[in-house]
Amino acid sequence: MRLDRLLSLLALGTRSQAREIVKGGRIAVNGQTERNVDRRLNKGDQIVLDGQPLDARTVRHVMLYKPCGVLTAAMDKKQKTVLDLLPPVYKACGCMPVGRLDKDTEGLLLLSTDGEMAHRLLSPKRHVQKCYRAEVDGPLNDADIAAFRQGLALSDFTAQPAKLEILSSCAEKAVALVWVGEGKYHQVRRMFAARGRTVKALKRLSIGPLALDESLHPGEYRELEPQKLQMLLSAVSGEENP
Ligand code: URA
Repeated sequence: MRLDRLLSLLALGTRSQAREIVKGGRIAVNGQTERNVDRRLNKGDQIVLDGQPLDARTVRHVMLYKPCGVLTAAMDKKQKTVLDLLPPVYKACGCMPVGRLDKDTEGLLLLSTDGEMAHRLLSPKRHVQKCYRAEVDGPLNDADIAAFRQGLALSDFTAQPAKLEILSSCAEKAVALVWVGEGKYHQVRRMFAARGRTVKALKRLSIGPLALDESLHPGEYRELEPQKLQMLLSAVSGEENP
């Protein structure tokens, strides 16, 4: 990769601003000042800006605790998006949300520069299970568990069989965990609606083997550790199922 491109991927400015940084002698590569903007970099090159080592990673995977009230989008003219919750380097290097959560859903959102992994995680044919905690406005019972297990008929499609586990239930409200292997628009809310319940609060707890880090607060993020990333990649390796 060329030096000016790398600097712009690291959110240090537009391509032309990056070129000015280089021409100004502010960059050193492997200990030597480098003023050539066309310089091609090799893996492992040490890059220093104004005497400070640069974190030159352009491949990023982030776990975000998406709060309610924020859009799952890369940008929006009016509303705050999940990319606005991260430092600019993530947007600059092309980190994108993997799937989406509704504006009023909170919980685990993965953002990644790896489009292929994202595609695999989202494919309904891979049945990667996403677990949600839902609070609904009335009781749930065994008939609901059976209906989820069978596959609920919604207006435009029949949902794949899903597991429902009731954590508590009384006349006014119930709390349940639900696992779904696909991610259609408003899917979980629509599945409960098909059973006559309105979802009052929805939180995603996990995607496949990756659980929301309990130490994160809404709006906080962290980079995925290599072993967590490896777990995710293993979960989506191999052929798709019908
Ligand atoms: N299902 C929904 O209804 N909403 C979400 O945000 C995620 C799954």
